Amino acid sequence: MIDYPEFTSSIISELPDKGIIRCTSPSNIALVKYWGKRPVQLPENASISFTLEACKTSTSLSYKKRDKISDDFDFELLFEGSPKPDFKPKIQNFFTRIEKYLPFLKQYTFTIETSNTFPHSSGIASSASGMSALACCLMQLEKKINPNISDSDSMQKTSFLSRLGSGSACRSIEGPVTVWGEHEAIKASSDAYAIKFPHVIHQNFEDYQDTILLIDKGEKQVSSTVGHDLMHGHPFAAKRFEQAAGNIIKLKEILISGDIDAFIEVVESEALTLHAMMMTSLPYFILMKPNTLSVINKVWQYRSETGSKLCFTLDAGANVHLLYPNSEKNKVLEFITNELVAYCQNGQYICDKIGLGAKIL
Ligand code: DP6
Repeated sequence: MIDYPEFTSSIISELPDKGIIRCTSPSNIALVKYWGKRPVQLPENASISFTLEACKTSTSLSYKKRDKISDDFDFELLFEGSPKPDFKPKIQNFFTRIEKYLPFLKQYTFTIETSNTFPHSSGIASSASGMSALACCLMQLEKKINPNISDSDSMQKTSFLSRLGSGSACRSIEGPVTVWGEHEAIKASSDAYAIKFPHVIHQNFEDYQDTILLIDKGEKQVSSTVGHDLMHGHPFAAKRFEQAAGNIIKLKEILISGDIDAFIEVVESEALTLHAMMMTSLPYFILMKPNTLSVINKVWQYRSETGSKLCFTLDAGANVHLLYPNSEKNKVLEFITNELVAYCQNGQYICDKIGLGAKIL
């Protein structure tokens, strides 16, 4: 197992007695998907995403030095004001994974209070925003204890820690575009943390919009951990990872050149491939719903009739992310209200756009 000694730390100054730290961190939407991982939380292929702005988690971390150190982590978790015992094992597991890199964890009693801007169980994955917001708070505490850490090292370590909570979370720390996973075409890319896309992005992608249609707000049929596991022994896994690597090269050029037609092709193909992987694994799943397909067909029809650059992508669920240039905003929103809202559960959708990542409040 890889150790990452560059991220281990020791306690060099006196521990602060108590305090509170607040951070927000957004969700992100992958353009080239992460699907398949090896221990611990290392991706089988590089992925690239738009960081979002409106869909985010706010977390406050209250910390108080313990009188007696014990062998257990001591934390309480409140989600939107109420205790949330079912989230605790995930945090416990996260703390166990990161203790080596934040050796003060057992010396504190923590109260973690978190809330999301998007509706609970909307089918929007909260693990990316939730884990990155918590990692961001913990990293601020680390900075109080190790004040010499530089801003860029701290950013990198926040992403590194987030990854150990949830893979995609490491892509939420910075924006507007981040890359996670080592790839020869992306300088300084790493499996251990995400980096900001290291080139100037064409203005065609400035303020790019993401409207999320909530097609099905039901409980996830497959947890992401189970989903990633299905790539082990998957008959098409090796080809898929090869394809993703090729799509990273294509998307790099596209983001620099501003070729939106090529963007559409890569992004929609990635979304459908992700779902094709689920349909062809054992056990197999179909996470799209009939309304997901209706929306996709409507988007294709709209594009061919109007010449619009509207396209879609999907997560591991039925909801549809509609991606489009800011210049088309009014027209696309009109199309959504007239033609697509009917396919959304309770008519719900969320307007988001690309953003800049986690913030310390
Ligand atoms: C389909 O990051 O949720 O959204 O590492 O197990 O927490 P874990 O998985 P997670 O997987 C996200 C998968 C995806 C594609 C993506 O975001 O790249």
